Amino acid sequence: AAPCDIYASGGTPCIAAHGTTRALYSSYEGPLYQVKRASDNAVLDVSPLAAGGVADADAQDNFCASTTCLITVIYDQSGVGNHLTQAPPGYFHGPDVDGYDNLASAIGAPVSLNGRRAYGAFVAPGTGYRNNNAVETAIGDEPQGMYAVLDGTHYNDACCFDYGNAEPSGLDTGNGHMETIYFGSCSWWGSGDGEGPWIMADLENGLFSGLSPSNNPGDPTISHRFTTSIVKGAPNLWAIRGGNAKDGKLSTFFEGERPSVDGYNPMSKEGAILLGIGGDNSNGGQGTFYEGVMTDGYPSAEIEDAVQADIVAAGYAEISLVNGPELTLGSSISFQATTACCTARYLSHTGASINTQVVDSSSSIDLKKQASWTVRAGLGKSECFSFESNNSPGSFIRHANFALALNADDGSKLFAEDATFCPQAGLSGQGSSIRSWSHPTRYFRHFKDVGYISSNGGVHDWDAAGAFTDDATWIVNAGFV
Ligand code: AHR
Repeated sequence: AAPCDIYASGGTPCIAAHGTTRALYSSYEGPLYQVKRASDNAVLDVSPLAAGGVADADAQDNFCASTTCLITVIYDQSGVGNHLTQAPPGYFHGPDVDGYDNLASAIGAPVSLNGRRAYGAFVAPGTGYRNNNAVETAIGDEPQGMYAVLDGTHYNDACCFDYGNAEPSGLDTGNGHMETIYFGSCSWWGSGDGEGPWIMADLENGLFSGLSPSNNPGDPTISHRFTTSIVKGAPNLWAIRGGNAKDGKLSTFFEGERPSVDGYNPMSKEGAILLGIGGDNSNGGQGTFYEGVMTDGYPSAEIEDAVQADIVAAGYAEISLVNGPELTLGSSISFQATTACCTARYLSHTGASINTQVVDSSSSIDLKKQASWTVRAGLGKSECFSFESNNSPGSFIRHANFALALNADDGSKLFAEDATFCPQAGLSGQGSSIRSWSHPTRYFRHFKDVGYISSNGGVHDWDAAGAFTDDATWIVNAGFV
């Protein structure tokens, strides 16, 4: 039995079942998610290889070859139609056209399930999905359950990487108007033991880790690479549970009465569904979602434990984020532009600015150093890479406001993530494209001889789709020094 078969057997059926990685009913063979490719805006539904099975990742890869793809729809497998699509603006506007949030890259979160490749939804800050017309979700104080399998190493301290029940208006309509899983290290409201990340409940105007609206040491820091997270709520009763999605059982971190703050008892749930954002479309959070459901009714711990056993049996495992020409740690490399205009140009720096400059064997030693980079293990994700300046040891290429910059490593989590890049086979069919780990829709690009992380089309001039694949494809050669 699959998760939603198990929930149904307990009398708490799924009313939303979202999984880009696999079917969540043993008989489900419909579409799991939809991708759109940039080259011609065509869309493809990705379905399981067989009923109840893992997603057909090869279908996506063939469809997206030599271009980029975004996840446009995460289908609801429950049959009631609670699909998730690009979140519209709420109180806070998203970064995409007309205030919509961004869509996730289709390749930001590769994974394998019992040896079969699939893709999760990698939510970079600014990314969000929502359904403001959801049906059969809990309203008011009605009971519901939720679980999500997340990447416990991908989080931040901003508001709010959530999955669950929120306001259809996109507005903060008051305490108790949401009930979602939150994952991350945001401690503006509640917090748990240690530094985080924590599984908390976003109940609107507060992330709750237990009975106290502030700190509850019973809610542990939890950062398994694959983390099962649970939040559920009923009249004056709610719970946080979690565990390692690869192994072992769930623990109950809290189960008890509602917070003793006005507005949370009874609850005023409104029944929209969101992923990756807060109720008011706060979109600073980041995280990775592989699968999750919402149920009608408050599931028993026994049913959830059986769901956890099924998740463990699904065999989630990490696979490489890197492909294409290999890089050697410690080697000195250069990045040669491939756009016809610019093949004499190499990625270089002038002070803190990253640009392209014409460099050759007769260039000055200073310029040669400015265009040469030492390959280091990714500061934010060791299987990817960071590029240290040969001219300014201790300084790395990072992105800041989507421009590339050369900055000294300040030791922060943000710097490490901004300075981590995952090379892949070049988008134009030669060389390499250098994808941002933390914003995987974005790649090293030269635009008017300046370096950016650019998406293939988008709101900034440097995201222009024209020449994107060439501008974002580089030949990695030996360094000049
Ligand atoms: O409850 C935390 C956040 O507060 C909600 O997600 C958002 O709507 C509000 O800003």
